[in-house]
Amino acid sequence: MKAKATVKTKTAPAFDKYAYYRRSVQAPDNDVQFLRDTYKELKGKEPVTLREDFCGTFSICCEWVKMGPKYKAIGIDLDSEPILYGLTHYLPKLAPQQRDRVKVLQENVLNPGLPKADVIAAFNFSHYIFKERSMMKSYFHNAYSTLNSGGLLICDSFGGSMCQEANEEETEHKDFSYFWDQESFDPVSNHALFHIHFKPKGQKKIEKVFTYDWRMWTIPELREMMRETGFRKTHVYWEGSTKAGDGNGVFTRTEKGEECQAWIAYVVGEK
Ligand SMILES: C[S@@+](CC[C@H](N)C(=O)[O-])C[C@H]1O[C@@H](n2cnc3c(N)ncnc32)[C@H](O)[C@@H]1O
Repeated sequence: MKAKATVKTKTAPAFDKYAYYRRSVQAPDNDVQFLRDTYKELKGKEPVTLREDFCGTFSICCEWVKMGPKYKAIGIDLDSEPILYGLTHYLPKLAPQQRDRVKVLQENVLNPGLPKADVIAAFNFSHYIFKERSMMKSYFHNAYSTLNSGGLLICDSFGGSMCQEANEEETEHKDFSYFWDQESFDPVSNHALFHIHFKPKGQKKIEKVFTYDWRMWTIPELREMMRETGFRKTHVYWEGSTKAGDGNGVFTRTEKGEECQAWIAYVVGEK
């Protein structure tokens, strides 16, 4: 009689690009604190409704509703793929009462009639997809007209000398590396092409998991366009630095930045 051999094969877990993306570039718990604190600082009261434009997997919406029973969130994105990921991975983790306060729409942020909100967030530089002033102004105008009275449009922005040349930066995590790769920068148009690559430990680098074809807008340009589309006031929140000169994750309102190789800031339009 032949002995039966049991062979155990080890297969690598399926590559989950949104899980790697979340661990590399997202911090939705910090984001909701910043959004709420900024509204409180400028308006002297708590916001209720957040609209997360360009929401992707709508991770910020899911954190927003965790802050309490009055908080409501709406996510807007064109692409069904990240929306479906959020619906199957993030939404089920919420309590049923929290889930009921999240709504996600597969829509263009330029569409008329989007739901109203106290705060509209455009994060991870998603609005840089609009390369013409006319397109960015259409977006700002649409945001303005769908903000509740006194509401805030909060956009992030980034720049610095490092963003004006091709370069690739690796960030090592315990079980993978994250690469932020700027392929090009054109000083005539300010257009820039970026990619995200990942390399799970012991595996080959997976190239161009996400690609972004953007225009590098400056803070004054964003503020000017906000004012031209009706925003009453604009504000800039600049990141403080550690002793070593790195960003410390604390953003404060200022009218003066600092010369940096790479910086992140928030530009806020007040209705
Ligand atoms: C850079 S990703 C950011 C996703 C998400 N905000 C985050 O932080 O992970 C940009 C997202 O914007 C979406 N998008 C691009 N153009 C859009 C538009 N005109 N209207 C709505 N969503 C758009 C894309 O589908 C993509 O999910």
